Amino acid sequence: MDKERKLIIAGNWKMNKTVAESLDLANGLVRELKDVTEVDIAICPPFTALSEVSKVVIDSNIRLGAQNMSENDYGAHTGEIAAGMLKEFSAKYVILGHSERRQYQRESDELVAAKAKAAHETGLKPIVCVGEQLEDRESGRTEEIVGSQVRGSVAGLTADQMEGTVVAYEPVWAIGTGKTATSAQAQEVHAFIRNLLGDIFDEDTAVRVRIQYGGSVKPDNARELMGQADVDGALVGGASLEVRKFSEIILNSI
Ligand code: 13P
Repeated sequence: MDKERKLIIAGNWKMNKTVAESLDLANGLVRELKDVTEVDIAICPPFTALSEVSKVVIDSNIRLGAQNMSENDYGAHTGEIAAGMLKEFSAKYVILGHSERRQYQRESDELVAAKAKAAHETGLKPIVCVGEQLEDRESGRTEEIVGSQVRGSVAGLTADQMEGTVVAYEPVWAIGTGKTATSAQAQEVHAFIRNLLGDIFDEDTAVRVRIQYGGSVKPDNARELMGQADVDGALVGGASLEVRKFSEIILNSI
């Protein structure tokens, strides 16, 4: 597949996998995907498995990511984890503002923007998630909602930082439901996001930002989704928990 932006396919393991299970999955992926150079691959295990998984992937083509981080560098923030702590495990990416965190932990665009800034300042690349709810789509408010999430969540980033940020468009109604956005629906929103980034930053920056699609990505729909002009990768939940499925998604996307 010929695209000027390199695809980035990441697995978001969410709150799944013990350390032992994480090691099995990571070892299997290293084995299956060792020859892949065409796609940037990342896995985002739970915090508790980062240390062990980092040892498995350190010399491989698979990069490590976390699923969240604090906007603070250190200090009295019980239960939080700082970007610098993630760097200790050679993490390269951190997922920020996932819809589950926006919904259940009440994360705001402002908080996501502060985290994204802190991630860049520590040398981590944020994967900033946005996406509309079903009722937003049904009432024709997709662009309004996604647009305001994008503006709010990248506020304060420099153009260079934006270029190193991955945006993940994840329609909430497609997450874990088996209902994937059609490739045309995904492309439409991705193009809208890229246009908006052009307005907020500049055209050169916007064409370099990678925009992932997330929401029921599977081996059999990956190729079609990745074939869209503005779809530059995938953020995979359920199907990233199995070696065969996640590997097939990647191999089918090349
Ligand atoms: P599913 O692939 O399970 O729909 O989850 C998508 C997601 O939320 C990835 O962050």
